[in-house]
Amino acid sequence: MTYRIEWVRSSCRMLSQITTEFERTQPFAGMTIGTGIHLEPKTVALLLTLHAGGAHVVSTGNLNSTQPSAVDYLREHAVTVFGGPTRDPVERAGHLDEVLAAEPHLLLDNGGDLFVRYLDHPYDRLLGGTEETTSGRMRLAPLRDAIAKPVLVINDSPIKQFAENKHSVGQSVVESFMRISNRATNGRRVTVFGYGACGKGVALNFRNNHALVSVVEIDPVKRLEAMFDGFNVPDRDEALASAQIVITVTGAQRVITAADLGLLADDVVLANAGHFPIEIDVADLLADRSVASHASDEGITTARLADGRKLHILGEGHMVNLAGPRPLGNSIESMDLGFSLQARSLEAIANGSVGRESCVVPVPRAIDEQVARSYVELAKA
Ligand SMILES: NC(=O)c1ccc[n+]([C@@H]2O[C@H](COP(=O)([O-])OP(=O)(O)OC[C@H]3O[C@@H](n4cnc5c(N)ncnc54)[C@H](O)[C@@H]3O)[C@@H](O)[C@H]2O)c1
Repeated sequence: MTYRIEWVRSSCRMLSQITTEFERTQPFAGMTIGTGIHLEPKTVALLLTLHAGGAHVVSTGNLNSTQPSAVDYLREHAVTVFGGPTRDPVERAGHLDEVLAAEPHLLLDNGGDLFVRYLDHPYDRLLGGTEETTSGRMRLAPLRDAIAKPVLVINDSPIKQFAENKHSVGQSVVESFMRISNRATNGRRVTVFGYGACGKGVALNFRNNHALVSVVEIDPVKRLEAMFDGFNVPDRDEALASAQIVITVTGAQRVITAADLGLLADDVVLANAGHFPIEIDVADLLADRSVASHASDEGITTARLADGRKLHILGEGHMVNLAGPRPLGNSIESMDLGFSLQARSLEAIANGSVGRESCVVPVPRAIDEQVARSYVELAKA
């Protein structure tokens, strides 16, 4: 596993370049940076870049995604990690409190947990920080007046939108479908629910892999856009009845429920790529009319319905690109870009070039341009 971490670190070319610069410029000298984020090889690369910039990094993982080898590696490299892998929200809350007890100067938040808890027990030296996700932005935006510090939202950068959400999620969902099911996409009827940034990439990547793709979208304008992009846009029930593969990627709840069981074709494969495992209501689907047979180590749940039809759910409805055997998530390059935005945003807050009026706002355009220029230059080299 150490090899994988080293591989990821050396493949993060932008972060490597920033690390070399930070070793010289020391933008975080004497500062503590606190975070609660998935602890896996790509975040290791980010946290060690911040450490190279002079920061004392204090961290804990997210629920259900901490990789022990990443924790060991971070600890060997002088990053403080509270706790280890856990599915227990109470235990994780205790570790978030430990992060905040260090009174970090900067917070690298993921879902808004750290800033919300900071408001319960504020301290003087917090300068501000970053928030990685849309869900965190939605949680923190109503708290702007209370936070009153710069907080830059990485997800709202156009670079994150196209590099990760559009291109990388689409690729990794196709990779995960094939890795877990080992079935071909060629000629398969695929229905994608949602035509936002992620849904566009999922639909495009299945089409590029020779599937016959239709899109179900509740926003009439985006539905039209999907049609103009060349996808079929059947009504929802018609799409579900003919689909051999269904992917949800909406951010909404209960997109597929037991009420759809009558529609689903025999042998259909269902997978979710949205953030929360609530788009396919797996408990509802498996509740009564079906008998589940579960192969957990393969990431496939097969349910047999009373009338003999079978349906298969990948990754129990959790994000399919982080599910099943040996999940890799989104590409290193897309995360290298997103984490470079993180490093540059924290640097800007540390040096005071972003003020408190920038509370829960997108990454400044100048940082987007700086990161975009560097990536193109490195790609040409
Ligand atoms: N798997 C990953 O690696 C990954 C990465 C980034 C984001 N995400 C998640 O993917 C989800 C989608 O992200 P996005 O950036 O595309 O969001 P988005 O808001 O741009 O798009 C979501 C689309 O789904 C549509 N929609 C909502 N409910 C629907 C329904 N019941 N049926 C059909 N369409 C419906 C909306 O109208 C919207 O167009 C979010 O949960 C996000 O957090 C996952």
